[in-house]
Amino acid sequence: MEVTTVPTSPIAGQKPGTSGLRQKTKTFMSEHYLENFVQSTLDALVAEGVPVKGGTLVISGDGRYHNKTAIQIIIKMAAAAGVGRVWCGDHGLLSTPAMSAVIRTRSRGLAGMAPFGGFILSASHNPGGIDEDFGIKYNCENGGPAPEKVTNLIYTNTTTIKEYKLCCGLPEIDLSAPGSYTLGGGAFRVDVFDCVEDHMGLLQQVFDFGAIKALFAREDFSFVYDGMHGVQGPYAKKIFVDEFGAPASSLMNCEPKEDFGGPASASHGHADPNLTHAVELVARMGLNKEGREIETTSEPPVFGAAADGDADRNMIMGSRFFCSPSDSLAVIVANASCIPYFAAGLKGCARSMPTSCALDRVAEQLGIPYFEVPTGWKFFGNLMDSGTDAFPGKPVYTPFICGEESFGTGGDHVREKDGMFAVLAWLQILAAENPDPAKPIVGVGDVTKKHWEKYGRNYYARYDYEGVDKPAAEKMMAAMVEAQPALIGTTVDGMKIAKADMFEYHDPVDGSVSKNQGVRFIFESGSRFVFRLSGTGVAGATIRMYLEEYAAPGADLTKHAFDVVKPIADIALKISKLTEYTGRTEPSVVT
Ligand code: G6P
Ligand code: ZN
Repeated sequence: MEVTTVPTSPIAGQKPGTSGLRQKTKTFMSEHYLENFVQSTLDALVAEGVPVKGGTLVISGDGRYHNKTAIQIIIKMAAAAGVGRVWCGDHGLLSTPAMSAVIRTRSRGLAGMAPFGGFILSASHNPGGIDEDFGIKYNCENGGPAPEKVTNLIYTNTTTIKEYKLCCGLPEIDLSAPGSYTLGGGAFRVDVFDCVEDHMGLLQQVFDFGAIKALFAREDFSFVYDGMHGVQGPYAKKIFVDEFGAPASSLMNCEPKEDFGGPASASHGHADPNLTHAVELVARMGLNKEGREIETTSEPPVFGAAADGDADRNMIMGSRFFCSPSDSLAVIVANASCIPYFAAGLKGCARSMPTSCALDRVAEQLGIPYFEVPTGWKFFGNLMDSGTDAFPGKPVYTPFICGEESFGTGGDHVREKDGMFAVLAWLQILAAENPDPAKPIVGVGDVTKKHWEKYGRNYYARYDYEGVDKPAAEKMMAAMVEAQPALIGTTVDGMKIAKADMFEYHDPVDGSVSKNQGVRFIFESGSRFVFRLSGTGVAGATIRMYLEEYAAPGADLTKHAFDVVKPIADIALKISKLTEYTGRTEPSVVT
């Protein structure tokens, strides 16, 4: 195979964020942009001693615009770097959790073929299309996102890069169906395989598929799933329709599309499962975008769920009921013993700091170690790998369940959040709650309400202010931090501030310290508000304001969350002076 060396020069701003490098698609399509990043990554891996030469590399994405072209380019670059085998999901698709599953498990029984890592082409829940977003993220041999040490090295390489290498002469690989291609006289091989099989195989070890199938067989069980035209479509078809016997009509928007079904301004196109963007699902479940009940012509299904573009996020709904991600996490942990993988007992659980404290009450009652980590899935990864070769001698926290308010839920079966995992966990819980087909069906709302009666309810909402001027947002955050010490002990609108700080995390596994992880104000009552700047946006800044109020068992648990936290929002707006700094009077999204 002839290797071509192409001279290039550094392109500014190729610093991978929380979830890899994200940019406008046209930027990724511009000369050398993708190539510079990929070469910088491959060079960083070689420098780190990763066995790139002769090794196996996985390359796939969420199907957004430019996915297929990018894969062909990376295949040619991998060949030039001496990679021995490239693995791709069919149609160039792998959901983010499926990529993690492939890296961790596909090589079982194939000695020496375990991938050293994988490139995921995705900008997650950001819209896709030529005028929208694209992204690339590198995951390591444990199936989790590259640690900061590696991403920093990648970034340094992007600032000094002079050339990249590719095998121009390689033919385009047919990604449209499974197949194997031996190239360069046997030195290089590409395998295209069914994108669902590895992930589903792993999930079958976690869950009791038979019990879930019996739930689907009930006459009074009904189900709807919104793939939002992201990567989840094939997974939803195989698992819900082929395995569980759901009617094909229960799948909405399950054909992957390069623009996720249309311009992001319309009701489609923004594959982010929340009350604002999952318009069709939310209406079908009998709610409006504030989560309030609406008139429907027919009874909403018992269970509804959705995924984002790369299917690591999830939204869980019942008939006329929205289960907040924070509640969903707490309910799954409280009921984990009905899931075979967790039947012998959970050894750990965790939430991100802005996620509601509902999980803490469950973990305390069950006596399970629990952790509050900064936003970002990587912080859970260390806890899951504790006690393994990566961190020998540390306590073991697996089996482990974790989640975030940002619609992410997962376990230690992979090293990414997993939208399908969350849905199956809920289906398993419903299967366990409905052992007798003669009794009326118990749904998501019933299970969650029963949970609140036992543990109390953490009323919760998040306000997002998107596309804000970045310097203004940063000034607002800095001013709040400065004001915090003087505000402790004072009373605002009848609420006494007991604690106020900038959240800092001391990782119990690797000892690292992460500062500046969000401004917290905690009231005497346990209610709180938190401010963070989003780490996943592409343009300007997004301010996130998280609001929470605890109601103990016995209190009124049936109010609407948005109404309950409104007074806290007013205090948060007063203290932050958000309108003064940003000119914004209304949030762009409330969820
Ligand atoms: C990604 C990460 C999540 C994180 C989320 C936060 O989805 O994988 O772990 O919670 O980003 O996004 P934000 O925009 O709030 O920084
Ligand atoms: Zn995602």
